[in-house]
Amino acid sequence: LTDLNTRVLGKQIKLLDVVDSTQRVAHEWVKEGAPEGAMVIAEGQTAGRGRMGRTWHSPQGKGVWMSLVLKPSVPLHLTPQLTLLSAVALCRAIKAVAPVDAGIKWPNDILIGGRKVAGILLESSAEDERLQYVVAGIGVSVNLTSTDYPQELREIATSLRIAGGETVDRAVLIRTFLQQLEYLYELYTEEGFAPIKSLWEALNVTLGHPVSISGATGVVEGVAMEIDDLGALLIKDNSGKRVKVYSGDVQITGN
Ligand code: BTN
Repeated sequence: LTDLNTRVLGKQIKLLDVVDSTQRVAHEWVKEGAPEGAMVIAEGQTAGRGRMGRTWHSPQGKGVWMSLVLKPSVPLHLTPQLTLLSAVALCRAIKAVAPVDAGIKWPNDILIGGRKVAGILLESSAEDERLQYVVAGIGVSVNLTSTDYPQELREIATSLRIAGGETVDRAVLIRTFLQQLEYLYELYTEEGFAPIKSLWEALNVTLGHPVSISGATGVVEGVAMEIDDLGALLIKDNSGKRVKVYSGDVQITGN
């Protein structure tokens, strides 16, 4: 990770062996003054955190388990756009380093053949409606083999190695991801969300499919129609009504 080629991201790095969660370390580092672009990378995690209060399986030496400190000058209500932006960066990076057909499940899961290969957890901190900072947690299952997964994950998860048939250099993946993220963030700052939205749409595997979404307001079932200019997902539910979903857990239930 010596030649990062990025201007801001990853300029300060904490490389750790095994920790509970890189998210926790990054949040603490922010309190001690971590600058924008500070990055925590661990070889393994014992209590990796996923979205929706889930745990994230992070075996030692097998994946990219990292957290990035971002201080974007974006109004709080636009943070969902950053969620989609981060997914585009990760999906493009994955496709650049491994021979896999990866796609994005709304908002920011990366799937290969319907199985999850990577996830992103954005934890933001706001004061008086203003975004202070974001800790972006990136988890990519890179070189796990099926025996590295507990039984309950074998059917629903995959890795770049399982899907692509070859091992992937984790440092190359991290470098490629940071370059993509920096490039897309510049594009976003200069041209707004529209180009990011198009890139997200081109990579997505959600729109046009029947879905079941569990979120804060219960379960919605219907067809995923489109995303709006804030990054919310529009569903046509089974009674024909259009429903907007701002966050939640999507299950793709058909073709
Ligand atoms: C998801 O549920 O899809 C998000 C998973 C995010 C996992 C990563 S691994 C590095 C960082 N540290 C954590 O504890 N979680 C994130």
